[in-house]
Amino acid sequence: MKRKPNWLRLTVHALAWGLLVWLVWSFINDPINPIQATTKRSGYIALVFLVLSLAATPTNTLFGFRQAITVRRTLGLFAFMFAGVHFLIFSVLDYGLDWSLLRGAIFEKPFVLVGLTALTILLTLAVTSFKWWMKRLGKNWKRLHRLVYLAAPLVVVHYSWSVKGDVLRLQGDILQPLAFGLAVALLLIARLPPVRRTATHLRSRLTQRLSGPVAESPQPVEGPNR
Ligand code: HEM
Repeated sequence: MKRKPNWLRLTVHALAWGLLVWLVWSFINDPINPIQATTKRSGYIALVFLVLSLAATPTNTLFGFRQAITVRRTLGLFAFMFAGVHFLIFSVLDYGLDWSLLRGAIFEKPFVLVGLTALTILLTLAVTSFKWWMKRLGKNWKRLHRLVYLAAPLVVVHYSWSVKGDVLRLQGDILQPLAFGLAVALLLIARLPPVRRTATHLRSRLTQRLSGPVAESPQPVEGPNR
């Protein structure tokens, strides 16, 4: 039997590859500081894909949009792909793969160390995201993939630390990192069993209410206006 195309997955692919082309184009055409601008853009895109992949499960549990689950892995893999591009620009184009300079950056700038930790987690999750690993790891696969709940907050910390400003004193360019922090926090809270149970309960009650009049409609209505 012919399989139906998954339009949502195709849209995610089109968006991600389109963004990669745009990233290359903007790098070539940036007259001022292409390396810094592309480092920022690729990191930002990676974070957006990571947040979207975290949003897939709550979108299904809270709103019953099952298709979201079918793009969770794709979104996660694209998050890793853009994080890889981000790291390559930093290490190859910015630091010329100079190991002593890179070592210095990692240990002198704590936000780089936090980014590296997040990237290591994303790499592990991407490599083990295939069916072969799922079978091999069994129950541990799920446990391992819960590390994404650590990777996302680490990226938010990395972002907040990289911008000019002070998150604790609410000064500088901290609005966007704070908004991402809030989004990640809400998406993690939405996974807590009591929140999930309440949401599922409310959703089934709402669906019953909405389908109620349809269920009662077989009763013929008598009267002059029929
Ligand atoms: C070894 C790993 C990493 C390194 C060396 C690294 C390096 C950097 C650097 C140098 C900046 C500051 C750019 C600037 O302001 O000039 C930055 C910002 C950023 N990075 Fe990373 N990063 C790493 C991992 C990650 C990962 C895994 C993600 C996301 C999944 C990420 C997301 C971001 C974001 C969102 C920003 C802020 C972008 C903006 O200012 O708009 N980084 N990173």
